[in-house]
Amino acid sequence: MNLAPTAGIRPQLPSSTADQRVLMLYVHVPFCHSRCTFCDWVQAVPNKDLLRKPGDSVRQNYIAALCREIEARGAQLTGPGTMPYVVYWGGGTASSLDEDEATRVMTALRDAFDLGTVAEATIECSPDTVDERKLEFFRGLGFNRVSSGVQSFDDDRLKRLGRRHNAAQAIRIAHAARAAGFDDVSIDIMSGFPDQSSDELRRTIDQALELPINHLSLYSFRPTPGTFMRRKMDRDEKSAYVRDQKHLFTEARRQITAGGLSEYASGYFGKVSPFAAMYFQLRADTVGLGSGAISLVNQEFLSHRKGQLHGYVQDPTGFDIAVPAGSDRVLISFLQAGLAMFDGILRDEWLVATGTELDEVLTRPAIAPLVDFLRGRGLISDERGIRLPVRNVGVTLIELAFEMAMSQPELG
Ligand SMILES: C[S@@+](CC[C@H](N)C(=O)[O-])C[C@H]1O[C@@H](n2cnc3c(N)ncnc32)[C@H](O)[C@@H]1O
Ligand code: SF4
Repeated sequence: MNLAPTAGIRPQLPSSTADQRVLMLYVHVPFCHSRCTFCDWVQAVPNKDLLRKPGDSVRQNYIAALCREIEARGAQLTGPGTMPYVVYWGGGTASSLDEDEATRVMTALRDAFDLGTVAEATIECSPDTVDERKLEFFRGLGFNRVSSGVQSFDDDRLKRLGRRHNAAQAIRIAHAARAAGFDDVSIDIMSGFPDQSSDELRRTIDQALELPINHLSLYSFRPTPGTFMRRKMDRDEKSAYVRDQKHLFTEARRQITAGGLSEYASGYFGKVSPFAAMYFQLRADTVGLGSGAISLVNQEFLSHRKGQLHGYVQDPTGFDIAVPAGSDRVLISFLQAGLAMFDGILRDEWLVATGTELDEVLTRPAIAPLVDFLRGRGLISDERGIRLPVRNVGVTLIELAFEMAMSQPELG
């Protein structure tokens, strides 16, 4: 059973205003112990870089460049008008950092930013990269939340996904995180693999609900080009895949809410994570640090070209993409992300973060087709903002993400 009662826990979250910018500090670690067949977070990172081990010189150079970026961006972004509120280390696999690497990065972060106002600090772990001792180390370093990538509790499935842990290890790590003193423990579960049955997913959720977690993220598989699993899929079967995905997701969310974790955003259950809520609703400026991170700072969208570790090491503060937050492509992605939240997109926060009026954005020619589609799904608009009816959010976003991924050609 999950330890903390979670229904209705909604922390009072701060939002940026014209005078005060709330900051989310996201640190990207582009290394993993293996490449999973479904993963679209690191598909642009070549294997020789993704699998580099601690001590490897390219990896050491990456950590040094990351610390340089943290120092430089901290110098630009600290001051009386800014308040770091959330820290999130993800990847790749943030927990694959060894103690020396993680200490160097955390020291740089503390030196560059005032972390005294941080309410939530999450470290993303995959169960094969941590043990009881390493979790205690991360707790001592200042993290108060663990997000563990489990994906499934079916050992056969885990093998086929290319995971390096089994179900027993994932169970052990959830317990060990509580024992190490983490207040908040979350796990990621995936649904909608092309050959997944309802029974298989139901057993996985049953097991998840037995664990001492207070948050669960349920992700429906996006068949992004470049993932091994996408290569195996038949594009002519697209509508059958989407139908099955929607069915599996709907069944799973019913089971999870019945098990005591209430849903606050599509696929996000349990205690509202400030990271998720602030990211979806643009309540904070996102300071993305590292090669695969995106930033939304001072109404500007910044990112490095995906997967380019070596370019990043040469110039960690030179961005390949730097466009106004108010450009169409950026806003389309924020619209899709923001509608995941059941409370939806908030007008005031949107204006502060992007410099655009929501109503103006919805009439733009490049955005109108998306808005028409969303209106067909019952888009609600009022003085607070816009949102989808709760019953439509999950399936609508699955359709959009699936369509977007399948419309892109397979790489190579
Ligand atoms: C950045 S990944 C890192 C997790 C960590 N490295 C691990 O493997 O445990 C975060 C989560 O994204 C989800 N994810 C990865 N690829 C996905 C895809 N193609 N579609 C949907 N979710 C995906 C997985 O649930 C994964 O745990
Ligand atoms: S799911 Fe995690 S471990 Fe697997 S390739 Fe993606 S980031 Fe790496």
